[in-house]
Amino acid sequence: MRFLNLLLISFLASCSLSNNEPHFEKNLTLKSITDNNKTIGVSVLSEQLFSNNNYQSFINSEFSGITPENAMKMETINPTKGMYNFRDADEIVRWAESNKKVIRGHPIIWHRQVPSYLKNLDNNQLKEIFESHILTIVKRYQNSVFIWDIVNEAINSDGTLRKSIWLKHLGPDYIKDAFILAHHANPKAKLFYNDYDLTMPGPKFDSAYELIKDLLKKKIPIHGIGLQMHLRPEFKQSEEGLRLVIQKFSELGLEIHLTEIDIAIPTPSSLNDREEQARTFQFIGSVCNQFPSCTSLSLWGLNDTVSWIPSHFKGLGEATLLDGNMNKKSTYYEFLKGLESRN
Ligand code: XIL
Repeated sequence: MRFLNLLLISFLASCSLSNNEPHFEKNLTLKSITDNNKTIGVSVLSEQLFSNNNYQSFINSEFSGITPENAMKMETINPTKGMYNFRDADEIVRWAESNKKVIRGHPIIWHRQVPSYLKNLDNNQLKEIFESHILTIVKRYQNSVFIWDIVNEAINSDGTLRKSIWLKHLGPDYIKDAFILAHHANPKAKLFYNDYDLTMPGPKFDSAYELIKDLLKKKIPIHGIGLQMHLRPEFKQSEEGLRLVIQKFSELGLEIHLTEIDIAIPTPSSLNDREEQARTFQFIGSVCNQFPSCTSLSLWGLNDTVSWIPSHFKGLGEATLLDGNMNKKSTYYEFLKGLESRN
């Protein structure tokens, strides 16, 4: 059966690479093809999820996990001092629970999308907010969210710690403190460090590796690494690089989540770029399959229209599996093929 599936996927992929023809219907989905021990997820925008039927039903039938794309960010959920706005996050969590989706809570401590009131606080006040933010959010969802990106993007590309508002006011210990507090709020949750550009060897990878090794040595409750995969012309992925990085983090005993997968290419796109992009989607799936420790793959943005890429990276786009009309692209079929492979 698997062999037949593979044949069918190869056929569909080759059709769509050459002319992007609409495929014929079949019962294969990303969810059905993914190894049972892994979650296949996507980021969700609440404004889309609750107003766009196609968006919602595609996510429901194709994915076993979701990540709120913006609803849990501090500026959304904790916009003014002492005031929380849980509406969007609650709605997404409720929807995910009733549709049996695994939720990746994202992000607890990050330097971007923070509320402006943080700027006017002294060190002690910021420390207080830091603590109550972590405890409040992780506790609120303690019966629904068991995976959290606790610290997001704390490292610069040269391997130094990012001079975020958290580092400036709280010092480097903010990282370990965030994990300790989150563990206190929900001892059952798996806690992740999540960052981009870690999937190729280099100074950023080295530094993240050492940071986490040190946290583990100090018995800080950190359970996994989220490897964001915002691939783009300046950060291309090699298959060996991905394998090596997953291998190294696995050796530390960590769970590996490939998070925020999208592959931005220059637009309007060339056939060459689209082919390379589709191949990359394929080996992301197959490399993850080679590691029992790689337990989750999440796409960032369901389709090219809702993707964050065009508005954040000039001249880039077409980074997802579906075009703006929700048609499956060659990227979709190649990704399926990768997820299907078993070694
Ligand atoms: C992005 C969202 O997709 C956009 O809608 C928002 O405007 C900016 O943030 N790293 C992360 C994600 O951890 O939360 C970011 O998401 C993309 C980069």
